[in-house]
Amino acid sequence: MTKAEAQTQEFSERAGAHAAAGRELRQRYTVADLAVFTAEEARRFVPPGNGDPRSNVVLAWELLYRLEPELYDRLARAERLHPEVVRWLPGQVDRIAEVGAGTGRLTMELIGRGRQVVAVEPARPLRRILRRKLEAAGHGDRVRLVHGFFDQLPLPDDFADLVVACSAFTPSDGHGGDAGLAEMERVCRPGGCVAIIWPNHLDWLAARGFEYVSFPGPMSVEFGSCREAAELAEIFYPKAAGAVRQYGERNVPFEILGLNPPRDLAFKVMAG
Ligand SMILES: C[S@@+](CC[C@H](N)C(=O)[O-])C[C@H]1O[C@@H](n2cnc3c(N)ncnc32)[C@H](O)[C@@H]1O
Repeated sequence: MTKAEAQTQEFSERAGAHAAAGRELRQRYTVADLAVFTAEEARRFVPPGNGDPRSNVVLAWELLYRLEPELYDRLARAERLHPEVVRWLPGQVDRIAEVGAGTGRLTMELIGRGRQVVAVEPARPLRRILRRKLEAAGHGDRVRLVHGFFDQLPLPDDFADLVVACSAFTPSDGHGGDAGLAEMERVCRPGGCVAIIWPNHLDWLAARGFEYVSFPGPMSVEFGSCREAAELAEIFYPKAAGAVRQYGERNVPFEILGLNPPRDLAFKVMAG
């Protein structure tokens, strides 16, 4: 067994232990799990003095992507985007760059909207799942999947007509920030569009020239079954877990979960 294989096995055994414990995300990982990060990941994600995933939930999410990527994928599959969000994006363009592509919730929708799609994703386990999905859908050659971070995009200036991130960009330095935004804008061609889907800091983006669009209508998280709804609620929405069990349906309105639905985006058209 190679060193990399041994490490993967060790991490997946640990993931099994987390799953067996059925713990909510905030209790799922410990400081020992930070060993899964590469040096460049640790530099971005582990803030000095706040490196405990039990008190730093942003860190817990980053560990989830690396230790239990399939569990993350089950959640992302259930939290589907409002269809108008994708329809709103510029279509039939030459090149699209997506940053923080994860397991492809948005990426799969971008195929066919751009002649070339590049998906940038730092977490190797998520890239693996996305590659598997692309190949299963017969789109293995339609998307170029690359490693990279918001603040250091492996793409040339003016590369894309659309540079987009979905549920990935935040104002914090490790997850975008001003350096990450500058990179997205660098990679976007004049007259092209930078879009942040499901944005969480509207004032911050507005102060940097972004406009906002939101699409109406009821939205539910579409779990695979009632059982999955209860299981994933315990992990990701523990405060709403009782209400989810009581609701007893596979599709659970976002309001019950206490989560704003993925019905919106912030965008900026780059000066031509
Ligand atoms: C909540 S997931 C969203 C994934 C995917 N876009 C989706 O909608 O399902 C956040 C994603 O951002 C990625 N990410 C976190 N920090 C990043 C960074 N500094 N640069 C690029 N991507 C980052 C994570 O690896 C993860 O794939």
